[in-house]
Amino acid sequence: LDNGLVRTPPMGWMSWAMFWCETDCTHHPFSCISEQLYMDMADRLAEDGFTQAGYNRVHIDDCWMEYTRDNDGKLIADKKRFPSGILALSRYMHEKGVKLGIYEDYGTKTCGGYPGSYGYLEKDADTFAEWEVDYLKLDGCNVNLTEMPIGYPQMSDFLNKTGRPIVYSCSWPAYLIDQPDQVDYTTIGKYCNLWRNFDDIAPNWKSIQGIINYYDHNQDKLIPAAGPGRWHDPDMLVIGQTTVTPEQSRTQMSIWSIWSAPLIMSNDLRLIAPVYKEILLNRLVIAIDQDPLGIMGRLVANTTNVGVYVKPVTPVDTAQDRYSYAVVLFNRHTQNSATVSVKLSEIGLTNPTGYFVQDLWSGQKLGVMKPDDVYSANVPPTGVNMFKATLAQQRQKNAIE
Ligand code: GLA
Repeated sequence: LDNGLVRTPPMGWMSWAMFWCETDCTHHPFSCISEQLYMDMADRLAEDGFTQAGYNRVHIDDCWMEYTRDNDGKLIADKKRFPSGILALSRYMHEKGVKLGIYEDYGTKTCGGYPGSYGYLEKDADTFAEWEVDYLKLDGCNVNLTEMPIGYPQMSDFLNKTGRPIVYSCSWPAYLIDQPDQVDYTTIGKYCNLWRNFDDIAPNWKSIQGIINYYDHNQDKLIPAAGPGRWHDPDMLVIGQTTVTPEQSRTQMSIWSIWSAPLIMSNDLRLIAPVYKEILLNRLVIAIDQDPLGIMGRLVANTTNVGVYVKPVTPVDTAQDRYSYAVVLFNRHTQNSATVSVKLSEIGLTNPTGYFVQDLWSGQKLGVMKPDDVYSANVPPTGVNMFKATLAQQRQKNAIE
């Protein structure tokens, strides 16, 4: 969607894949969906180095509402769990340089059974603008699939009409998973800034691997649809949850960055272990995700156990149409490590003067490599090796180094 927003993929934190629909604040005061939870996470983003790295959004997910609208049909936040209301919450965020996202559903009810926007699209768009919300995730439970091409664009227009810049995330294609020919990414990209297209993530390897498989199989359709202001959303980063290993976390971070995917964490930032925090804050990998070209990378070589992904990034030599690249070597095997060797020219890295190569997880600079050179790495099970190959050119050598 060309509304000037999210020209690079959004980054932040979202509650769903960690705190779900926990509404019992009596028994679970620290993990129930409440204004306190979102304020805690905004504090952690602002004070623990996350906003400086680009993670500058907190997203409310489902289960924030009262079960009924007010007499004027306006949505109300749960009075016990959000006693100050959403406007106060967004002002709290904004003072810290954090933007606030909210969740609604295009249907009659949200997936969690709270009031949906069906019949109230304009009213809800106005309410979110009045509450100074910066981002809307509009889910697609409880609605007739044939109405999606009507409702999702309508909400886009209503949000635009409010005059407030609001990022618009659509779950539209995710509900058409069984009717892939109904999914037209050109149209979706005209109305939405980002969109979910596959199953919900769960904090485990099977789920992460399942999402990677879906994107691999559908990459020819997905790649041309992505770009600045219009992103595929493979769902939240579950890095920091203890059911996902550090190795698997590096894999999720690397492949999501190769895809130019939103980097929206779902974890408990109050308790996160240093090893996970370090992975999430790796500036070299974040820079690949946030590369201004916004190109979605591609699986270019594949065997049963190993996938090689390549993403064109800056710096670019436009005169000669040559790119720099981020490369991920991914070992899908869950038990054995793999030695992976790739000749640069075989994965499309053909610049005659070569590339400056840097390992993005160790930070180690590996010198200049030419198209005929072979890059080799030992990749742990369910893990990755990731490097950047920066265009090396005689006349620019100093500028690049
Ligand atoms: C759907 C969405 C999830 C989450 C839940 C909330 O399943 O895909 O991301 O928002 O609804 O009920």
